[in-house]
Amino acid sequence: MVKIDLTGCDSFVKKEQYNDYLKQALAAQKVLQEESGAGNDFLGWQHLPSSIGRKELDDCLSVVDRWIEREIDLVVVIGIGGSYLGAKAAIEALSHSFACQLGSHGPKIVFAGENLSEDYTAELLDLIHVRNPACVVISKSGTTTEPAVAFRLVKNYLEQTYGKKEACERIVAITDKARGALKSLSNQEGYKTFVIEDNIGGRFSVLTPVGLVPIALAGFDIEAMVRGAQDAEKTLMACDEANPAVRYAAMRNLLYDGGKKVELFASFHPKLQYLGEWLKQLFGESEGKDGKGIFPASVIFTTDLHSMGQYIQEGERMLFETVITVDHAQREVTIPADEQNLDGLNYLAGKHVEHCNRMAQLGTKMAHIDGGVPNIDIHIDKLDEYNLGCLFYFFEKVCGVSAYQLGVNPFNQPGVEAYKKNMFKLLEKPGY
Ligand code: PA5
Repeated sequence: MVKIDLTGCDSFVKKEQYNDYLKQALAAQKVLQEESGAGNDFLGWQHLPSSIGRKELDDCLSVVDRWIEREIDLVVVIGIGGSYLGAKAAIEALSHSFACQLGSHGPKIVFAGENLSEDYTAELLDLIHVRNPACVVISKSGTTTEPAVAFRLVKNYLEQTYGKKEACERIVAITDKARGALKSLSNQEGYKTFVIEDNIGGRFSVLTPVGLVPIALAGFDIEAMVRGAQDAEKTLMACDEANPAVRYAAMRNLLYDGGKKVELFASFHPKLQYLGEWLKQLFGESEGKDGKGIFPASVIFTTDLHSMGQYIQEGERMLFETVITVDHAQREVTIPADEQNLDGLNYLAGKHVEHCNRMAQLGTKMAHIDGGVPNIDIHIDKLDEYNLGCLFYFFEKVCGVSAYQLGVNPFNQPGVEAYKKNMFKLLEKPGY
């Protein structure tokens, strides 16, 4: 389960003030539980984990079996925003850091439709030409331009190379049940289709087939991930002040009102880089509206201590830091002794690399607090499917509670339309 440590904020907030914010956060949690707040037609994610049973899991796993038979070695996952970040974050967190170079077995997962770069697209086409590819296209609305363009190209390639019937076996569509071009296209072509319920928004959809199908295709245990989310769902339902999601939401809002406008998500685990991207989307798109909202940013330490470290330590004091810690490494590497000790590192001989990482983390925490950056610690036991499932659900819950406490509807994203309108006009889309 996810643990939270708020002691790194002690020197920045007054206890009585925190208690007031805790009461407000608890009230926000009640609104969420009672489903009486703004955007309450988008709360399907709240009880999603407990609604996932054997049938739903087997349906996701059926795609894996279907493509094993065909010896598929490349799956192009097409989607943008909430329709790709969760899967990307999970696959990166769970994969060997050098899976690509090691040539590990199972299909390689690549992502497309999350940008409009011509070079990226051309290079994706280079890749699928030399592999035995299949494609998962994900778009809840079914009308988003970036994935639609990528899908048209991949579909075209598959149909020209394998014929329409076989292409159909190599395409899986994940979309909503009625609206949008992708649903009607899938019905017409006969693709295997997963439906995302209307009451689950994109950035809250990682535990639906949107995340589960790509994660299963990458070879990871989606059953364990769902189990983790189910346990988190049970624990985080509690309407009491010990609920870690409520405590975290209270502290975020208190810091924000005290001038800490930026939340820096940090981790000392490079495999969590894309979790940072998922968090940025979850909080940024949910909270950043009506002229309000904490600006979410992310860094990986110790890497970014050598780039952003200076700013964090001494730049404008509008930051607080939320550090995601994995308590137990999966592997062990000990630093060897060296007879000559020319690098002067013998003081570390016999120590684990993770011990150095921990000391770097502790030293960073002390330095940043001294420098005026409040610190929130989020802990999981280890980096596996179960704990990631807990973490995904935990942050979704925090986001819902925090946004209600802030006074915004976390489940819409009206601001995303502005660039689209201009782009459509410039592209001369009919009707714009
Ligand atoms: O969180 C959201 O709702 C968005 O980020 C969407 O996921 C993103 O815009 C993609 O939308 P769609 O799945 O409809 O293509």
